[in-house]
Amino acid sequence: MTAAQLTGRVALVTGGGSGIGRATALRLAADGSVVVVNDLDAGRAQETTELITRAGGKAEARAGDVTDSALVDTLVDGTWARHGRLDVFHSNAGTGLAHGELTSISDEGWRADVELNLNAMFYCVRAALRVMSAAGGGSIICTSSASALGAVPGTGPYAAAKAAILQLVRSAAVEYGGTGVRVNAVIPGAVKTPAFRRYIGSDERLSAYERQIPLGRACVPEDIAAAVAWLASDESACVTGTTLVVDGGLTAKRAEPLIG
Ligand SMILES: NC(=O)c1ccc[n+]([C@@H]2O[C@H](COP(=O)([O-])OP(=O)(O)OC[C@H]3O[C@@H](n4cnc5c(N)ncnc54)[C@H](O)[C@@H]3O)[C@@H](O)[C@H]2O)c1
Repeated sequence: MTAAQLTGRVALVTGGGSGIGRATALRLAADGSVVVVNDLDAGRAQETTELITRAGGKAEARAGDVTDSALVDTLVDGTWARHGRLDVFHSNAGTGLAHGELTSISDEGWRADVELNLNAMFYCVRAALRVMSAAGGGSIICTSSASALGAVPGTGPYAAAKAAILQLVRSAAVEYGGTGVRVNAVIPGAVKTPAFRRYIGSDERLSAYERQIPLGRACVPEDIAAAVAWLASDESACVTGTTLVVDGGLTAKRAEPLIG
């Protein structure tokens, strides 16, 4: 894809203050978009916009919590009001909140995970669909997870929410394809972000994990950003309602027999 691919476009990225969201914001800006960077953490959103500006791109920070549906509506409507368009929405904010085997998960823990990782994704998709369908097109990309495809003990609430995103994406794509809006999911495997570093712990644990990945390494945020940039661009003009797995082969692998 050439750097001019997204020239003149306007993109919004949630959770853009760190990790995958920051890498995507930087990439979409490098490809020519004006990027609106949302994050719960105002300082981190501002840092991302400064990185983009220093690299010669255009960005603005809009802090806020995407579990607040009114905030999400304001984020999207405000982007439309200021820029007169919204071409790309990367709905990316999320993280595992309630950890442990299912019988240990409280009602509150379950609800918190579903609120951030599924309900907020719905608020974002709904708000983006409203403006994009009226405008006659756009690309929505939701960040799911390899946890949607296979279970890791102790991550049940997060995994259930991330799996539900895939069906939300299909419903949105089917209902709004006729308006020109495309809706897809990106499925990262293990990605070296601050959240993943906290989850994995030591370098020894990271190395042991990476040895199980067919390509021999965890992804970096830029790997996911490249997939999102493709889904955002006209190169993927006939792609909707699908999932793009970026995981170094992690989810292609089954347990190996220990005989022979
Ligand atoms: N890193 C991985 O290995 C991995 C794997 C699969 C899926 N994912 C998914 O990728 C996405 C990004 O993860 P990451 O690893 O880059 O995490 P990260 O913690 O590095 O960045 C996430 C950002 O989202 C922001 N955020 C959290 N809650 C928010 C809210 N309510 N409203 C607005 N912003 C909020 C945080 O402040 C943070 O800056 C998440 O949806 C995560 O579930 C990550």
